[in-house]
Amino acid sequence: MNNEIGVYVHIPFCLRKCYYCDFASYENMEKLIEPYINALCDEILKNSEILSQYKITTIYIGGGTPSYIDAKYIKQILDTLMLFTDKEFLKEVTIELNPNSVTKEKLEIYKNAGVNRLSIGLQSIYNDILKIIGRVHKLEDFEEALKIANDLSFDNVSLDLIYPLPNLSLEQFKETVDYAISLKEKNIKHISIYNLEVHENTKLAFLLNEGYVSLVNEDTEYEMYKYLKDTLSQNGFYRYEISNYAINGYESKHNLKYWNQEQYLGFGSSASSFFGGKRYTNTKDIKEYIKRINKNEILYDECEELDLLSLMKEYVMLNLRKLEGLNKDNFKIKYQKEIYDIFAEEINELEKLGLLEENKKYIKLTSRGLEVANLVWEKFI
Ligand SMILES: C[S@@+](CC[C@H](N)C(=O)[O-])C[C@H]1O[C@@H](n2cnc3c(N)ncnc32)[C@H](O)[C@@H]1O
Ligand code: SF4
Repeated sequence: MNNEIGVYVHIPFCLRKCYYCDFASYENMEKLIEPYINALCDEILKNSEILSQYKITTIYIGGGTPSYIDAKYIKQILDTLMLFTDKEFLKEVTIELNPNSVTKEKLEIYKNAGVNRLSIGLQSIYNDILKIIGRVHKLEDFEEALKIANDLSFDNVSLDLIYPLPNLSLEQFKETVDYAISLKEKNIKHISIYNLEVHENTKLAFLLNEGYVSLVNEDTEYEMYKYLKDTLSQNGFYRYEISNYAINGYESKHNLKYWNQEQYLGFGSSASSFFGGKRYTNTKDIKEYIKRINKNEILYDECEELDLLSLMKEYVMLNLRKLEGLNKDNFKIKYQKEIYDIFAEEINELEKLGLLEENKKYIKLTSRGLEVANLVWEKFI
């Protein structure tokens, strides 16, 4: 049995809500920070039995904006987790940062508490576009944050970008990608480039619907896609997942756990866990979360016990997100069945459509499949 486990910690606080964001993150909730962190540490302690039985190999502190809150809280969380962690097995501890809230003092505290990987949300290098999407930082804040990270010898830094963005031209996007590549010398080892999702009820959806801002057309978006995937790989950032590029050896170990359908525990409001074949998602409401912890009530709002077929379908979809694809031997080891015994029809059909290809060991998305991955997922839902 694989007794490794990943841990996700959710910090649901932000200075301001970005116009495109649909995450469980909230502004103007500062009064709840301290009780929330205490509740979260309580949740960790309540899981001490499980945590003691597993080797924690990755920790990911995400949000929201973990760097927004006082660094003493991050230390409190990591100190609590370290009670159950053998440092020998802990490979990666990531924290998400918004450039606007990074200081030398905070990064020093993170480092001393065990953080060895930073993930900075840049999104765009143009200050006017950052303003249009409601970001609280400027490019200069990012440059300062990266300088502090370098001064403190953080040698594994990841960058988040989004495309297309309102009023962003193809030329500007190309400059953004070139800029990201130029940061290789400054310890940027990993780049996540997400395709913009416009969620209903966000300010961005309103601005687009009312015509205050606009996005490039589909053809230009496709040009952006081609430029980013070709240019990043030509410059040493190989694509290892649909939206993720890394220098060899700097792939996100924690996120690979998700794509390999490995077990992880999530702590905090809205955090999900995958454990014992079940998926749990904690309540999104911060006050409700604190109340439930204090009353010793069940924290999750959703608990889905996946039957064997659903687990296998999910395994296929998650593994196909990786560029190397799904390892057929691993499927057999995990499920004691050949993948063709279960999914021959789907695989054949997708191969005929040119969306999947395979060799002796792997089944993977073709370059066309990577562009229309949703059509592939539909076959397995
Ligand atoms: C939790 S945030 C990262 C940390 C911090 N909150 C920040 O924004 O700087 C995770 C990442 O998801 C991406 N993201 C958020 N909303 C998105 C959307 N609607 N479409 C595409 N990417 C999105 C952004 O790149 C963001 O950096
Ligand atoms: S800072 Fe990050 S989590 Fe917070 S609103 Fe913006 S994108 Fe969402």
